[in-house]
Amino acid sequence: MEQALYHPEHGYYSSGRCAIGRHGDYFTNVSVGPLFGQLLAAQFAEVWERLGETDNFIIVEQGAHHGDFARDVLESARNCYPDLFAVLRYRIVEPFPILQDRQLQTLQSFRDKVEWRDSIEPFVGIHFSNELLDAMPVRLIGPGWEKLVDFDRDRFVFVERSVDNSAAINQAALDWVQNVAAKLQRGYVMAVDYGSPRDEFRQTVQVRAKHRFLDSSFEQIGHADITTHVNWTSIAERAQKNGLRIAGFTDQHHFLTGIISEWPEMLQARSSNSTVRQLPDRRVCVGDVDERIKRALQTLLHPEMLGRSFQILALERGIDLVAPLAGFKFARDPRSTLGLELDLNDEKIQTAH
Ligand SMILES: C[S@@+](CC[C@H](N)C(=O)[O-])C[C@H]1O[C@@H](n2cnc3c(N)ncnc32)[C@H](O)[C@@H]1O
Repeated sequence: MEQALYHPEHGYYSSGRCAIGRHGDYFTNVSVGPLFGQLLAAQFAEVWERLGETDNFIIVEQGAHHGDFARDVLESARNCYPDLFAVLRYRIVEPFPILQDRQLQTLQSFRDKVEWRDSIEPFVGIHFSNELLDAMPVRLIGPGWEKLVDFDRDRFVFVERSVDNSAAINQAALDWVQNVAAKLQRGYVMAVDYGSPRDEFRQTVQVRAKHRFLDSSFEQIGHADITTHVNWTSIAERAQKNGLRIAGFTDQHHFLTGIISEWPEMLQARSSNSTVRQLPDRRVCVGDVDERIKRALQTLLHPEMLGRSFQILALERGIDLVAPLAGFKFARDPRSTLGLELDLNDEKIQTAH
């Protein structure tokens, strides 16, 4: 999985071949249109308030693809939260030069707001990712065995070897959350992805190209996306062990409904803003704006579309929690949903929920 996605020359992501959206291999929340970024901008503005409207506020995004989400958030912040926009810096963590170039093009008009890094550096603010964890390499491990890839004459095959039962299937994701925890000085981590708590978790690896699931991981190597479901409980546990607290966990339907309910006027305000978008492929005409927003909302919220399959895990450090963030106001207690033991540090959050 690591070689197929991240080999410097042939990898699906590192080569820049990954195509998202209607004419690509799959849809994401971001490819549905600017609404997702606009709703998240409102949530980030609330995070900024919780941090005392600090003038040292960084939005760190990892897995930014072509920079569309960053642009949607920055446009929305400029239009709707000018005080936040005045102080914020947007930091993209992007190890692949070809993707940095694409992001640079998308974000031309925000050149003085955006900075690029190869790895996560210390920050105050929010770390955001959409479908980053599902793209992290996993090991295929069952009880006492592990599957590895071998080359037999002219084709790839799976072979098995015995393995210690304590090996983690998602070591890369666990290392990632440990690293983010070490770099977050104060603020939140918000990860959007699809998966489940441990008691419902089944390891699933899926291969997609041109909106079709392929039968074998060895088909179209380097031209197909390979993803895996996220075991949210394991990520949350590792976060807690590294000093972060669980600030919320819910599905996307409840998360976005919470944000909209807090700022119901938002959808209307976005309608008029949308008409000034610059990009030809996303330009909307006066008159069809509301219809487009309605359709995007339905795709993002509907349980049969993206609403139920995606979840949001929020972690925090150094926040005085009086109430959950807007996105989690309709959520159940995150620790019981995730099947986590109560952590003494979490008492305050428990009360808030
Ligand atoms: C499934 S895509 C999601 C793209 C985008 N967030 C969206 O929603 O459309 C996953 C992205 O994560 C990136 N990625 C994977 N590991 C990364 C890492 N360690 N640092 C930064 N980006 C990474 C990949 O290059 C790829 O662009």
